[in-house]
Amino acid sequence: MSIINEFYELSNGVSIPKLGFGTWKIPGGQLAYDATKQAIDLGYRNFDTAKKYENESSIGQAIKDSRIKRKDIFISSKLPPEVMTFQEVLDEFEKSIENLKTDYIDLYLLQAPWPWNDMGNIHDRDNMEVWKAFEKLYKDKKVRAIGVANFGVLDLENVIKDSEISPMVNQIRHFVGFTQPKIMNFCVENNILMEAYSPLATGNLLTHSVIEEIANKYQVTPAQIAIRYCIQHGTLPLPKAIGKEHIEENAKVDFTILPEDMKRLEKLPDTDPDSNIVK
Ligand SMILES: NC(=O)c1ccc[n+]([C@@H]2O[C@H](COP(=O)([O-])OP(=O)(O)OC[C@H]3O[C@@H](n4cnc5c(N)ncnc54)[C@H](OP(=O)(O)O)[C@@H]3O)[C@@H](O)[C@H]2O)c1
Repeated sequence: MSIINEFYELSNGVSIPKLGFGTWKIPGGQLAYDATKQAIDLGYRNFDTAKKYENESSIGQAIKDSRIKRKDIFISSKLPPEVMTFQEVLDEFEKSIENLKTDYIDLYLLQAPWPWNDMGNIHDRDNMEVWKAFEKLYKDKKVRAIGVANFGVLDLENVIKDSEISPMVNQIRHFVGFTQPKIMNFCVENNILMEAYSPLATGNLLTHSVIEEIANKYQVTPAQIAIRYCIQHGTLPLPKAIGKEHIEENAKVDFTILPEDMKRLEKLPDTDPDSNIVK
């Protein structure tokens, strides 16, 4: 079976394709339209965007023009973390579904537990207010699943303790040599799917000598090893690519990395020392 037809199941029973298509830094307009169209033609059915990426509209148009049934495409978008009041969340959400030209979003995520200009500081009360609005969107069936991104254990505990509906997803920076086991273990224990953002370390992993060596052994590319590693780790990779060659290559991950090679990859230290660890 191809990875394109494999799914994870979220805690509420919703199926989500195991491979996603990342779209950060794909400028809105022709580039985002063409990349999305290319990805759909190559079989991708799971698209990750955000209001902040300023490309929702082009992605929505490409999805609409594809004539693939809406129910067969999984769309995630994210609320900008600067939006903190109940009504503002509902208003921002309306803008996203309008941009995406759809009636509902499959997965709606709060992009971070703090505004970008106050990174790392505690915003528990704001996050709880946002989460109440997310619960309303979920109950109103405007979203099929709700979740968060860049949340650490304390941020998640804060939301879970007072919520009716727990987050179903946490989208985190996660790749070979940077797996964030503390938050990963918490997510596994609480049945929260971890999505792996920047699975190629925004390109920095692709010339790592050990990854290259393992890629040669399996006759695949370093990108394919990095993406397959996430899937075997139980996380959902969201590789971003613009050209057809990369988009196609990243979906060809129907091989198995043997346990001894997974172990070697798991032990690689600090493949990207600049990464922020989620607490
Ligand atoms: N929630 C958050 O805060 C957050 C933060 C960061 C990212 N994300 C999500 O995660 C997605 C992916 O993360 P990312 O954009 O940081 O980067 P990434 O997927 O780790 O890496 C993308 C880079 O790798 C290159 N690339 C892709 N496939 C390749 C291949 N097969 N061979 C060689 N190079 C390849 C791309 O080049 P080309 O584009 O030229 O193909 C691009 O420069 C984002 O797009 C976004 O959806 C979320």
